[in-house]
Amino acid sequence: MKQRKILFVDHTAVMGGAELSLLDLATAYANTSKVLLFEDGILRQRLEQAGVKVSIIPASDTMLKLRTSGGLSSLATIPELWRMAARITKEATGYELIVANSQKAFITSALATLQGSPPVLWHLRDILTAKHFSPINRLVAVFLANRFATQVLVNSQATGQAFVVAGGKEKLYRVIYNGFDSQRFDTVNRQDIMQFRAQLGIDDDVPVVGLFSRLSYWKGQHILLEAVKELPQVQVILVGEALFGEQDYVSELKLLAAIPELAGRVHWLGFRDDIPTLMKSCDIVVHTSTEPEPFGRVIVEGQLAQKPVIASAAGGALELIIDGKTGLLFPPQDILALRQLIKRLIDDRTLAQSIAQQGYDSAKNNFALETILKDFAEAIAF
Ligand code: UDP
Ligand code: GLC
Repeated sequence: MKQRKILFVDHTAVMGGAELSLLDLATAYANTSKVLLFEDGILRQRLEQAGVKVSIIPASDTMLKLRTSGGLSSLATIPELWRMAARITKEATGYELIVANSQKAFITSALATLQGSPPVLWHLRDILTAKHFSPINRLVAVFLANRFATQVLVNSQATGQAFVVAGGKEKLYRVIYNGFDSQRFDTVNRQDIMQFRAQLGIDDDVPVVGLFSRLSYWKGQHILLEAVKELPQVQVILVGEALFGEQDYVSELKLLAAIPELAGRVHWLGFRDDIPTLMKSCDIVVHTSTEPEPFGRVIVEGQLAQKPVIASAAGGALELIIDGKTGLLFPPQDILALRQLIKRLIDDRTLAQSIAQQGYDSAKNNFALETILKDFAEAIAF
């Protein structure tokens, strides 16, 4: 199949899950395509290292910091959106289509089609609920999608269904899951795992539970800390940074981790690039989002690391885990249920191993990067 010429657009250059997935897609289209960002940052470096062309058209701070959950104030940025759209149109010359990787990228790209840009697809990676998006923001994005998007690629059925509930046209969306290179996990060597545990001073027989999400209230790090409060044998590693502000939440978490029941058992690792090694160093990988997770890359990654994964039962997680087989699910925010599941996996090694194995097979069969790249290629072959 001839590679299409795509202009990928994203408003942020911070490495969230949406950007890691974009990195995979853009790398596969590096010969014909380009990525347009609204700010400079680590994503640009990663893309360029992978041989992808990048352009930056800086947006104002007001626009970058504008919260999607904000109200009418967002309308004040309309003149800027229009100016950004003009710049996108210029950058899009010579490309066949635009794939917008975020809501801000989509809104500006949709406006760009009015100024002569090529067709736009929205790669929607968020569940459009009231919790994260104000009514006005949802209204505008969904209106523009129905009117101007050639297609809305969604990262799960859950994301697609929420789009429809928000007023999006059902026939517009198509599920494209995230894809993963299992090699990165299969090639981790035992030496690195032992070295990592030794660095943290954790003995071989001590159970380690890992949570690999940016520090943010809805990612629910506090749920895990509350759950292990009464499991004194467990050590916790928290991997990730507060990517989009949320310093208040980090301060609260630090206070919680310092209480006598938890002191010395919570290891803060910040943002890391060696996720496969870190996951393989754990006994259990958990996902604790308090709100429905649109997809949940960390869940599939935990499975590829051959670890039993416990996830919060909502959103995309329900499409990644068959409860009791390829992982374990607990009701969102149910601290007691999470505690019991962690305990069960620690006490029952056979169960833990069986879930880890079935989770690994499922992740490898269903979310291989090459399969997902084929799905993506078919989706854009209109
Ligand atoms: N991640 C990472 N380094 C970290 C913490 C997380 O590379 O220190 C990666 C993680 O492996 C996953 C992604 O960030 O691939 C997070 O994606 P997910 O879909 O789980 O959540 P998001 O942050 O996109 O909502
Ligand atoms: C978003 C979602 C996350 C998903 C990622 C990749 O960041 O929050 O659940 O896994 O996009 O599609």
